[in-house]
Amino acid sequence: MNRSFFLTPFSPVVILFIATFFLLAKKASCTDPQFLACEPQSCGGQNISFPFHIQNAQEEYCGYPGFAISCNEKNKPVLSLSNNEYIIQEIDYQNQSLRLSNAVVFGKNTSCAPQIQNISLYEDRFRLSTNRTGLFLFYNCNSTLLENDSKLLKHKVNCSGENGNVSTVAMLDDNPLLGSASEKCGAGVVAPVDVYRGENVSIGKMLERGFVMNWVASNCSVCDESGGRCGFNYNTYQFRCFCPDRPHDRRCNSGEYFFFS
Ligand SMILES: *[C@@H]1O[C@H](CO)[C@@H](O)[C@H](O)[C@H]1NC(C)=O
Ligand SMILES: *[C@@H]1O[C@H](CO)[C@@H](O)[C@H](O)[C@H]1NC(C)=O
Ligand SMILES: *[C@@H]1O[C@H](CO)[C@@H](O)[C@H](O)[C@H]1NC(C)=O
Ligand SMILES: *[C@@H]1O[C@H](CO)[C@@H](O)[C@H](O)[C@H]1NC(C)=O
Ligand SMILES: *[C@@H]1O[C@H](CO)[C@@H](O)[C@H](O)[C@H]1NC(C)=O
Ligand SMILES: *[C@@H]1O[C@H](CO)[C@@H](O)[C@H](O)[C@H]1NC(C)=O
Ligand SMILES: *[C@@H]1O[C@H](CO)[C@@H](O)[C@H](O)[C@H]1NC(C)=O
Ligand SMILES: *[C@@H]1O[C@H](CO)[C@@H](O)[C@H](O)[C@H]1NC(C)=O
Ligand SMILES: *[C@@H]1O[C@H](CO)[C@@H](O)[C@H](O)[C@H]1NC(C)=O
Ligand SMILES: *[C@@H]1O[C@H](CO)[C@@H](O)[C@H](O)[C@H]1NC(C)=O
Ligand SMILES: *[C@@H]1O[C@H](CO)[C@@H](O)[C@H](O)[C@H]1NC(C)=O
Repeated sequence: MNRSFFLTPFSPVVILFIATFFLLAKKASCTDPQFLACEPQSCGGQNISFPFHIQNAQEEYCGYPGFAISCNEKNKPVLSLSNNEYIIQEIDYQNQSLRLSNAVVFGKNTSCAPQIQNISLYEDRFRLSTNRTGLFLFYNCNSTLLENDSKLLKHKVNCSGENGNVSTVAMLDDNPLLGSASEKCGAGVVAPVDVYRGENVSIGKMLERGFVMNWVASNCSVCDESGGRCGFNYNTYQFRCFCPDRPHDRRCNSGEYFFFS
């Protein structure tokens, strides 16, 4: 082979060289703004990243639809479901799970079950774990009727704010006294709690500990391991992997870089 083959303007070597040069120049000159915007943030000592994004602090495209959270004034990450606010106590990005407890309970030292709203447990974003049980809270029990029912009386919880005519009763959803309770108390609300076999914990502790849910969203690990930051394109409604060079479909370095390596 003669030399001019390698050095003529359109020889593969020259094209390769020029292409590489432009690619590197592009990479060095500007890091993709979406990659920069989606840097994980922290709230209350927890890393917040995909599928979550902190409203008003992070771009919406850094999260998955339906996973907006807020960082409250006490620096706790808060997730709203139905009409309840939940403190996110723990996020496990590997298992795609998180532990929540109702914000009205969390951090409060109370023997009384506070006003909790009914939650719809059928969120398509989340799956409740196998140990989840419903804790029924009856806020409007007729005290007169209750005094006569020694079995039900054992489930009474102390609430200092109550007047003498109305009491609060709490019990798990497998309790045979549920029917009798709704007769004397009217409708209850259900709060999800996790119950572990063989343990003996108070209602207050149970509510404070909360429950574990698994989330349903795109799996971020492939993009994450390739050095990218997961996100979402709200125009095409698809997962995106934001990389230092540009957004990719699933992972970084899967496109043009392969050609050269
Ligand atoms: C949060 O992320 C940073 C950097 O990735 C890491 O050093 C730190 O240990 C993480 N913190 C928690 C609580 O996972
Ligand atoms: C996410 O994908 C990784 C790699 O493919 C896999 O190891 C992991 O189990 C997946 N996570 C979940 C929650 O499916
Ligand atoms: C997540 O997975 C790890 C390892 O498989 C396990 O030790 C941990 O208990 C799991 N956490 C949850 C909340 O399921
Ligand atoms: C909670 O109440 C108990 C008993 O009333 C008390 O001993 C404890 O110090 C309180 N804890 C907090 C964090 O206020
Ligand atoms: C409680 O029940 C008793 C007996 O049925 C009834 O007389 C009373 O009015 C009820 N009290 C309230 C506050 O509903
Ligand atoms: C309580 O029980 C007693 C004895 O069974 C009965 O006489 C009384 O009427 C009951 N009171 C109420 C409010 O149901
Ligand atoms: C509820 O309060 C009453 C009176 O204030 C007290 O005698 C009782 O021991 C308390 N019960 C519980 C379970 O704390
Ligand atoms: C309890 O009920 C009685 C009769 O229904 C009523 O006279 C009384 O004011 C009520 N007490 C409170 C604290 O509401
Ligand atoms: C809360 O949900 C439970 C179970 O779904 C239902 O029986 C109850 O009536 C609801 N309570 C209210 C106040 O809507
Ligand atoms: C449910 O509780 C049991 C212990 O009672 C535990 O071994 C198991 O890992 C729990 N399952 C989940 C999904 O947390
Ligand atoms: C649970 O603990 C309470 C006091 O902490 C005790 O009175 C009760 O007997 C215990 N119940 C069981 C089933 O061990």
